[in-house]
Amino acid sequence: MLGVRKAVFPVAGIDTHFLPATKASPKEMLPVIDKPLIQYAVEEAIAAGITELIFVTGRGKRVIEDHFDKSYEVEHRLKARGKQNLVELVQDIKPANVECVYVRQAEPLGLGHAILCAEKLIGDEPFAIVLADDLLDGAPPVLAQMVHIFSHYDSSVLAVEEFDSWESTTHGVIDGRHWDERVISVSRIIEKPSPELAPSSFGVAGRYVLMPSIFEHLRSVKPDLNGEIQLTPAIHSMREGEQVLAYEFVGKRYDCGTKLGYVQATVDFALRHAELQETFDAWLRERVGALQLGAWATGSMLNQPAPGVQELAH
Ligand code: UTP
Repeated sequence: MLGVRKAVFPVAGIDTHFLPATKASPKEMLPVIDKPLIQYAVEEAIAAGITELIFVTGRGKRVIEDHFDKSYEVEHRLKARGKQNLVELVQDIKPANVECVYVRQAEPLGLGHAILCAEKLIGDEPFAIVLADDLLDGAPPVLAQMVHIFSHYDSSVLAVEEFDSWESTTHGVIDGRHWDERVISVSRIIEKPSPELAPSSFGVAGRYVLMPSIFEHLRSVKPDLNGEIQLTPAIHSMREGEQVLAYEFVGKRYDCGTKLGYVQATVDFALRHAELQETFDAWLRERVGALQLGAWATGSMLNQPAPGVQELAH
């Protein structure tokens, strides 16, 4: 059995949730503290043994190519200022044994369509899909956990987590039978169902390790109401002919495709960032203390007019 050497990073979406920030720059370049989302995703893939990174890009995504390319100019300037540690920081973004390949999705016709754009580059071997706007924090890294499950069972694996029922409309939701504590054999997968139609509370997070047979199924998927080809129906169809597993990963997911998830990731990562940890922790405690005090004061004064209002009444 071939190992998982290739990962696809679909980064050709239209990024509506972070406008205007994403008008000219892709959401995958939004930084959590000092690293763009796409770099966290790439580091996770490299830690899982991936050596070929395939980016499916679209309009306005050149900056991602530049980020993973060598920048003689930046390195030269840093060297001239004697900032050797920063030179190494930018050089380490892409290790020498890792290759980056880019393919263009001419129009954002859906995640499934984006994956189909990478078909020729993948060929006939298993591969990972990493959606960079889901920032997954795990030890070992979540994709490494999934590659382990994939190799053990020799089956496609989807990362899942339990979510609140109101969140079903933003996830693919699976149905299935637990094999062991964290592994579920998938019997059904539905794209973004309403809470009453969700077959379980396990939603798919943005990591997949798939057999190349997915491409046959993707080619038969009909566009949805928005004219997009989704990945979920292809996985559902694939599951009719072969086993597909869901894996409840060990770690935490930050949905950095939403403003709330992005801010939560920023706070949590700041609390353990070498440079910020101490000062940010102190500031946050002070802030939380002030907020608690404010809430208490508001609660205790609830039925009394604010000072000044009383004066106005007389
Ligand atoms: P999303 O469903 O998050 O859509 O795509 P989106 O268009 O990027 O962004 P929002 O929700 O409007 O802010 C899931 C992933 O699939 C990629 C996106 O870049 C994202 O990583 N994608 C989506 C493509 O590469 N091409 C597409 O046609 C659609």
